[in-house]
Amino acid sequence: MNDIYNNLTSIYGEAPVKEPARQLYFIEKCRNIIENEEKRLGRKLKKCVCTFGCQMNAHDSEKIEGMLGEMGYIDSKGEEDADFIIYNTCCVRENAENKVYGNLGMLKHYKKTNPNLKIALCGCMMQQESVIKTVKEKYSYVDLVFGTHNLYKLPELLYNCLSTGESNIEILSAHGDIVEDLPSVRHFKYKASVNIMYGCDNFCSYCIVPYVRGRERSRRPEDIINEIKALVDDGVVEVSLLGQNVNSYGKGLDCDINFAKLLRMVNDIPGILRIRFMTSHPKDLSDELIYAMRDCDKVCPHIHLPFQAGNDNILKRMNRKYTKEQYIALTEKLKKEVPGIAITTDIMVGFPGEYDVEDTLDIIRRVRFAGAFTFIYSKRTGTPAAVMEDQVDPDIVKKNFNSVLETLNPIIYEINKEKIGKTYKAMAEGVSDHDPELLTGRLEDNTLIHFKGSKESIGKITDVKITDCKTFYVLGEEI
Ligand code: 5AD
Ligand code: SF4
Repeated sequence: MNDIYNNLTSIYGEAPVKEPARQLYFIEKCRNIIENEEKRLGRKLKKCVCTFGCQMNAHDSEKIEGMLGEMGYIDSKGEEDADFIIYNTCCVRENAENKVYGNLGMLKHYKKTNPNLKIALCGCMMQQESVIKTVKEKYSYVDLVFGTHNLYKLPELLYNCLSTGESNIEILSAHGDIVEDLPSVRHFKYKASVNIMYGCDNFCSYCIVPYVRGRERSRRPEDIINEIKALVDDGVVEVSLLGQNVNSYGKGLDCDINFAKLLRMVNDIPGILRIRFMTSHPKDLSDELIYAMRDCDKVCPHIHLPFQAGNDNILKRMNRKYTKEQYIALTEKLKKEVPGIAITTDIMVGFPGEYDVEDTLDIIRRVRFAGAFTFIYSKRTGTPAAVMEDQVDPDIVKKNFNSVLETLNPIIYEINKEKIGKTYKAMAEGVSDHDPELLTGRLEDNTLIHFKGSKESIGKITDVKITDCKTFYVLGEEI
């Protein structure tokens, strides 16, 4: 970080125009205010970053944490003792939104006990006009609101808020340039996520993401590679490359790059032991990518490949651009080229017109998924599916959802059971949260493992023998 700060002009001068220098300048300005506040109160100021939603949001929160940490905020125990609370929100499903509103109601009381408390909202939910209207009308005690396109501006927006005491709402409807090199923190010492692209152009008919995250844009390969090299220097051995649709990485860049080529470049970085990526869209999964997965020894034999629904008519109305048989053929090709590959997926139940899930169950049985995120369809205003007439009765959806779980879970268990007695390579990530005697880690195919092993192995890849299993993890011992 210090290198970047060395290039800074004095914080008493004019704010730089260029990013990231401008935000680094405002981090310093905030730090000044915060230091004065600390002197006045005789204690450090505390932050609480609450994250809703997907891995992209979790990774954005690491950037938020990084910027706030540089300003001088330390971690609070929870919301009750924080001086700055920020909700990084998700709007993919309605219940995530309701949770934010529910929590916000409670925060009003904390403002009474701590008049210095600042409350901020950011993330996908804030990109919707209706939400901003509700926040203004019902939650006017919120101090700072920004969206997905100006997260990098948190220091400047917070400075305005801290220095004037006024609330500030700034939502941009379109994205600007990608801003590189802002402070960030990592929650894990040995593994890290790296954004390779932002936004989504697919417009699946049920999904709000393209509206709130904007058009697809890829980071330059050299920026990605440099970030990963710096992570390696900092002790990271496993990277997860993140994007809504990593398979279309590189479109729009003025260089000869695609996701398969990027994987090969990352595979060549010394010090990296494991490479993961998510999420893949079946329609963009090329042979070239499958061959890159096959050839690159560090790319883990795992792919998260959402299929959503099995029925061809439903898939068409979802705008997914593949059929059931095409999806199954793709998974067969993956299994053939990448032996031992684990395929995980997202499944949605209850899309308009989906009265039964026979085709979905057929895919589950034929592909044999190693894991799945299962969702009940949630109507999102502004998406084409929200105005489709044949919305399905919730009782039917519930019944179908249970059928999906009843078919899926025994298969996941079977796949884990087949591992018992065999030896695998596990990356030991740390001591288990549930049992201090055990280590927690991941097998190459992403299976979660709790195992007896030496603490010396943490951060390393070690051989483990599988001794038992449950549906969502396996147990083992280091050998
Ligand atoms: N309702 C329910 N689930 C949804 N997803 C996206 N939009 C919706 C929605 N409107 C799910 C999809 C996607 C995952 C990230 O969230 O399964 O793959
Ligand atoms: Fe949403 Fe489809 Fe884009 Fe995934 S690919 S973020 S489901 S629009």
